[in-house]
Amino acid sequence: MSSYKIPVIPGDGIGPEVITEGKKVMEAAAELFQFDISWIDFDIGAERYIKTGKLIEEEELKELSRYKAIYLGAVGDPKVKPGILEKGILLKIRFYFDQYINLRPIKLLKGVETPIKNKKPEDINFLVIRENTEDFYVGIGGRVERGKSKQELELARDLYSIKFGLDIEHDADEIAYQIGVISKEGARRVIEYAFERSMERRKNLSSVDKANVLSDIYGFWRDVFGEVSKGYPDVETSFYFVDAITMWFVKNPEWFDVIVTPNMFGDIITDLGAMIQGGMGLAPGGNINPSGTSMFEPIHGSAPKYKGKNVSNPIATIWAGSMILETLGEKKAAKTILDAIEENLSQRVALTRDLGGDSTTKEVGDAIVRMMKNIEQK
Ligand code: IPM
Ligand code: MN
Repeated sequence: MSSYKIPVIPGDGIGPEVITEGKKVMEAAAELFQFDISWIDFDIGAERYIKTGKLIEEEELKELSRYKAIYLGAVGDPKVKPGILEKGILLKIRFYFDQYINLRPIKLLKGVETPIKNKKPEDINFLVIRENTEDFYVGIGGRVERGKSKQELELARDLYSIKFGLDIEHDADEIAYQIGVISKEGARRVIEYAFERSMERRKNLSSVDKANVLSDIYGFWRDVFGEVSKGYPDVETSFYFVDAITMWFVKNPEWFDVIVTPNMFGDIITDLGAMIQGGMGLAPGGNINPSGTSMFEPIHGSAPKYKGKNVSNPIATIWAGSMILETLGEKKAAKTILDAIEENLSQRVALTRDLGGDSTTKEVGDAIVRMMKNIEQK
């Protein structure tokens, strides 16, 4: 019998309550499909940070690196200045483990209403593959007062290290700048992953950029895409500017099968994607390093307003759990979870408020467990 240990970071706000349901469903899947699952809880998040100043410690990262998949609830708390927890925990994990793929399925499940008129589940079913370690997320920039100054900026990665030395002289009141970086290998590896995923699907891959204006950085992305595409003559490819693709997401979502995008545009278009698939409560994401430690999470935040109220939708988190099982090779269990989620939605058995129901977070988890058992008995 296979046996899996999964590190869990429930985190802040509604994180712990949605993670509880996710674990419950995965445990039920383990029982049905006869594997063993156990959890290692990590107390990482706002509360500990406020008490001790600790975000995520080097030893914790080392410990986490022993596992294939981390299960994360949410981080973020209004008591902590915006950015501290996000950068110190979430982005830290993505960068430390070089999780260069951010996989976000945009799929309208049966029974879910999309805000886009006349679109059906068969019209909204694509994958966004967001580059997850570079672009304007590399964290180098600064604010500079009037006059002359020197700035040393450093970027140290497993893939490469870069030093920028800037001599700045300006007579504006004050300026700020941020440097975005895309490396050839950084782009190549995620684009290649996207082509591989396209080969398993409808063989249609779209690349997103803004090469008409930010032509150095995104012109480079486009060139790398062009090079990688030569290895996949069977995949039909298209380029979209990021502004235009937001329009097509709403007007013709059925055009898309797999989309690959640099980091920041991926961040933006996947919130739109989440809405067209029925809302943030239904959108999971995987931060993937195919040969290392990955992390799976709902893409929504910690929703502090709803903390402890037992009203939040746990489906995004349960779906993220299904993605973990898929990664671990438990394909049948992963599929059964997704089928049970869909069954629950289409029969409207237990729906939280965001979906027009009045069920609690816990009732949704329980209903999905029941549905899984039914599906398995059929
Ligand atoms: C996301 C979030 C994060 C991001 C934030 C919280 C750092 O918006 O996962 O999409 O920008 O990547
Ligand atoms: Mn985001």
